[in-house]
Amino acid sequence: MMSQISDQEDFLALRCVWVNGPVIVGAGPSGLAVGACLKEQGVPFVVLERADCIASLWKKRTYDRLKLHLPKQFCQLPNLPFPEDFPEYPTKKQFIDYLESYEKHFEINPRFNECVKTAIFDETSGLWRIKTVSSSGTSCAEVEYICQWLVVATGENAESVVPEIEGLSEFDGDVMHVCDYKSGEDYRGKRVLVVGCGNSGMEVSLDLCNHNALPSMVVRSTVHVLPREILQKSTFELAVLMMKWLPLWMVDKLMLVMARLVLGNIENYGLKRPLMGPLQLKNSEGKTPVLDIGALQKIKSGEIKVVPGIKRFSRGSVELVNGENLEIDSVILATGYRSNVPSWLQETEFFSQNGFPKAPFPNGWKGKSGLYAVGFTRRGLSGASSDAMRIAQDIAEVWKKETKQKNQSITCNRRCISKF
Ligand SMILES: Cc1cc2nc3c(=O)[nH]c(=O)nc-3n(C[C@H](O)[C@H](O)[C@H](O)COP(=O)(O)OP(=O)(O)OC[C@H]3O[C@@H](n4cnc5c(N)ncnc54)[C@H](O)[C@@H]3O)c2cc1C
Ligand SMILES: NC(=O)c1ccc[n+]([C@@H]2O[C@H](COP(=O)([O-])OP(=O)(O)OC[C@H]3O[C@@H](n4cnc5c(N)ncnc54)[C@H](OP(=O)(O)O)[C@@H]3O)[C@@H](O)[C@H]2O)c1
Repeated sequence: MMSQISDQEDFLALRCVWVNGPVIVGAGPSGLAVGACLKEQGVPFVVLERADCIASLWKKRTYDRLKLHLPKQFCQLPNLPFPEDFPEYPTKKQFIDYLESYEKHFEINPRFNECVKTAIFDETSGLWRIKTVSSSGTSCAEVEYICQWLVVATGENAESVVPEIEGLSEFDGDVMHVCDYKSGEDYRGKRVLVVGCGNSGMEVSLDLCNHNALPSMVVRSTVHVLPREILQKSTFELAVLMMKWLPLWMVDKLMLVMARLVLGNIENYGLKRPLMGPLQLKNSEGKTPVLDIGALQKIKSGEIKVVPGIKRFSRGSVELVNGENLEIDSVILATGYRSNVPSWLQETEFFSQNGFPKAPFPNGWKGKSGLYAVGFTRRGLSGASSDAMRIAQDIAEVWKKETKQKNQSITCNRRCISKF
């Protein structure tokens, strides 16, 4: 079936490609997982990716010390387990190697450097029209893909959030978003303001400490910090286990008791916990708890200084909301990410303005008119895998029925022709 698509390469000159099967937008873990599951079902597809490689978030926009923070069994994609010698928490490099072999194993062959600019469902033809700008070298071309099914796999973290903070443009040191941070190597001896205390802010502050930099971490509101492990068992795994028997609020209460036993009272170190429990907060607002891998110890020892919100920046310093002034050399914005779906998908019934499906997990994978979403469950890689399997199954059912009908009508026509 893929050859059918390459036969159509000539169409590129006309800037229009008919895709026999679904178009998947995004070649991150979610897009690859849908591709693999469709391959197993014998359904052809095309994956469009704006970057020049698979898993661009992992390859190009994450720091060196990154490891998966959930145990490996929750992070592998469908139909191909991690190699047996992988550690409990694979490194970024191991995860990327796995994704590369996954892509090769299932022969997914994404079309790279194709950024989807618009996608719209054409009511008259009952088909999706997906326009991309493709760039290779210095040339740039627009292509329109036409298909029956559209799978959105552009991720919860497609764009960096860079807040407007007063005076930031006057600040004369380096300013970068954490997606461009690789390691603390270049920051030795420097006073670095890390804005944000999610998993990125905490881990980058820890990395800066390990490279003898002097980080101050801005905590403007509240944060749940949980140990990554309790009694040598993954906290996430424990929570999943408890949720089978207990209501969410009770699991939250137990998690907080255990966190207090392991970590102590984090409020003694300038970190305030939200009123809502960690799992309830994740479910209702999508705010991920921090799984601590050592930053809290550095906060306790004073090596990471916790500071309140920012009032304004000036040339070499920052003024905080408590009136304190800090002299700083660099700023790292660990201020989060957002979905980019509303910028290109012309649809408002299934997706909400924040770029996530309106229906919460497990119902946010299927819209109308052949529209699907994978990887927007706020449940990381395990949520993406479960979406991918459902989507492939759903498309394959229709695909197989339609293919059978077409084959029958061809056979029937042939019989008719032969009669004449
Ligand atoms: C620092 C960091 C660490 C993380 N660690 C974990 C972890 O340990 N465990 C976990 O479960 N989750 C983790 N996550 C969450 C992460 O989002 C998932 O692991 C995973 O990358 C999600 O896969 P995805 O394919 O849905 O999205 P992505 O990996 O973001 O892939 C989406 C792809 O779509 C492409 N794309 C976007 N827009 C367009 C467009 N318009 N046209 C064409 N292509 C487009 C992007 O270039 C990208 O390649 C982490 C996230 C970050 C930022
Ligand atoms: N090892 C890992 O697996 C790992 C590592 C890193 C990230 N991740 C994942 O990647 C995703 C993104 O995490 P993230 O930490 O990058 O983002 P995040 O969880 O969205 O955290 C963003 C942080 O920035 C703060 N912030 C935003 N604007 C601010 C401003 N103007 N002033 C001060 N603070 C501001 C937020 O504070 P408020 O809460 O007050 O808004 C929050 O603390 C999460 O799912 C996370 O779990 C995983």
